Amino acid sequence: MRDRRIQAAHALLPNAWQQAPKEARAFAPVNIALAKYWGKRDEALHLPVTDSFSVSLALGTTTTIAKGEAHDDFWLNGGKIDPATPFYKRMQEFLDLVRPHHSFTFSVHTENNVPTEAGLASSASGFAALTLALNSFFGWNLSSKNLSLLSRLGSGSACRSIAPGFMLWHKGEKEDGSDSYAEPFPEKWEELTCGIFYVSTKKKEIDSRTAMKRSQETSPYYPLWPDVVAKDLFDITEGIKTKNFSQFGQAIEQNALAMHALMHTAAPPFSYYTSDTISTMKHIWQARNEGVEIYFTMDAGPNIKAFFLKKDICDIISIFKSISLVELTF
Ligand code: DP6
Repeated sequence: MRDRRIQAAHALLPNAWQQAPKEARAFAPVNIALAKYWGKRDEALHLPVTDSFSVSLALGTTTTIAKGEAHDDFWLNGGKIDPATPFYKRMQEFLDLVRPHHSFTFSVHTENNVPTEAGLASSASGFAALTLALNSFFGWNLSSKNLSLLSRLGSGSACRSIAPGFMLWHKGEKEDGSDSYAEPFPEKWEELTCGIFYVSTKKKEIDSRTAMKRSQETSPYYPLWPDVVAKDLFDITEGIKTKNFSQFGQAIEQNALAMHALMHTAAPPFSYYTSDTISTMKHIWQARNEGVEIYFTMDAGPNIKAFFLKKDICDIISIFKSISLVELTF
């Protein structure tokens, strides 16, 4: 598993490189999946079963890299990370893919301006920011395609966090994953607005990797998923191209509910919903029945990300007192 990942990483890097500046810093946005990545055709290389689609927020992760001392040291929002944690292990495994020699160590400072591990895709922005910082630290000068391919080896959804705007991740067909990367979808939608309901910022009980695997392996409805995504992806991209907000909104909400249905029908079943998640969903449906167009999506966590049009902002903030508006980047 590790060898295939190292091979995939090295295929992307220049033949010879050396550390360029003393330290390097990069920012990568959080991306909100609109057509979800949920299931892998290759676990080691994080190759997905389907294409997926996202939009980037102005929120995200800033990562600073320098050469380390005796061993790798990682900080998250100013706190030093214990080497016994899964967070440390995942970072270290990713850095192992690009370490110039085995005794080379890194010092990495990660600052998230979104709650870490609360279903707001901070691992995606984290691995994307790390990849971008490594690129300037070592002066690799990688293309955006190769940056996306490399960050995918840290976490699948990270490959969509290397740029602002709408991002389309092509699942690819090749065994080595060299055609599984995300690229900007060439449309903007200035009217589109996003607001987050921070239902809970507690660390989740089951991580998305385990949740995805269990859904794929045990839900009797998983075989329907690729067709669900294909249809939703069509409606999402058509909705964006023609600025048909109803088509776009219905498809993003349907896609998120279908993904959560896979978790609810897995064995053993599990759910990220809390009672506040459910009451927020019902509040959104009620507002819609009353004529205010607002739709939601959710990832592997209880928080709700809602989408609506700029013209409705005043109505939305008077109906939903707890919504936090967030900026999208186009
Ligand atoms: C629900 O990208 O975290 O956010 O590839 O195993 O690291 P790994 O999974 P990860 O899964 C993200 C799942 C999701 C949907 C999405 O971002 O498309």
